Amino acid sequence: MDQQFDEKLTIFWDSGDIVLVDQTKLPVTYELVRITTISQLINAIKTLKVRGAPALGAAGAYGVALAAHKKKGHSAVKLKAHLRLAARSILETRPTAINLFYGVDRVLKAIEPCITVEEVREVALNEAFRVAEDDVIVNKALGAIGASLLKDGDVVMTYCNAGRLATVGWGTALGIVRSAIQEGKRIAVYACETRPLNQGSRITAFELLEDHIPTTLIADNMAASIMKQGKIDSVIVGADRITQTTVYNKVGTYMLAICAKTHGVPFYVAAPLSTFDYENTVVKIEERDANELRFCRGKQIAPRSVHVENPAFDATPIKLVTAIITEEGIINGPHRAASR
Ligand code: MRU
Repeated sequence: MDQQFDEKLTIFWDSGDIVLVDQTKLPVTYELVRITTISQLINAIKTLKVRGAPALGAAGAYGVALAAHKKKGHSAVKLKAHLRLAARSILETRPTAINLFYGVDRVLKAIEPCITVEEVREVALNEAFRVAEDDVIVNKALGAIGASLLKDGDVVMTYCNAGRLATVGWGTALGIVRSAIQEGKRIAVYACETRPLNQGSRITAFELLEDHIPTTLIADNMAASIMKQGKIDSVIVGADRITQTTVYNKVGTYMLAICAKTHGVPFYVAAPLSTFDYENTVVKIEERDANELRFCRGKQIAPRSVHVENPAFDATPIKLVTAIITEEGIINGPHRAASR
């Protein structure tokens, strides 16, 4: 029997505010938080209450709409100037995921021709709705295409969280798993815990179990030996940005790609076209607070004075990627496609 999945949204608009799942509370509590100001949104993005590239795209788009709706008594020209400033402060939160820029830019572009304040507000919100709706549509298309790569009984390894909670709904990497299961295939997932913030154990394991998808949690340092034991049919991860030569995703992705190559396991990247960036060659990798490594959930786990490096993302050379799965098709051997 085909399995049906809930259509829960990670982020949505409600009565003039943004509402989002507070992902820092997972897996213990599933709590919605109401965002009424841009500074609350900025805080929510920086602290990863909302996270994952496509969800950040929607957060950025809704953020510009929020700024438009909360600002009173402006002319259209002044309101647009105010929105550009709000957009800039939203974009300063996290530099790596291009989807944040994509969501913000779509709304800023949409309001350009608007003449009245009312028009700016209406167009901004409508475009933000479209960014959010498009995300679910695109993920389902990508999922259906990617599902063709999975066989009944396959076991997929994934990293970080590229599921419904990293998007507005359905997910990219985990969207492929959901689509394959909906087609009637039996798919199991190995979720890497994804230190230091444990998006794998807290969020991926949570959302997969919610959907009754067989899940095994492993520590990140087990990935190579699990692959060596022949337990994994493919690795599927998401992406924060894809350039001609490189996939930027959660730090540790590169290590997984090397392991997959060594063990002959296909390494797939699932990402909407909005994650591609063929313009910039220099990509800023977000460096996060050192205390994320010195402490774990408030408990000290390293000397307070130890020097720490804590980049949120790493860069996987595209030649290690077997295929990139998008909503418009599969790019096989993407390093060859890019050099053509
Ligand atoms: O720091 P995060 O939790 O925002 O990192 C998220 C990831 O690295 C995801 O793999 C990526 O955004 C793709 S989500 C579909």
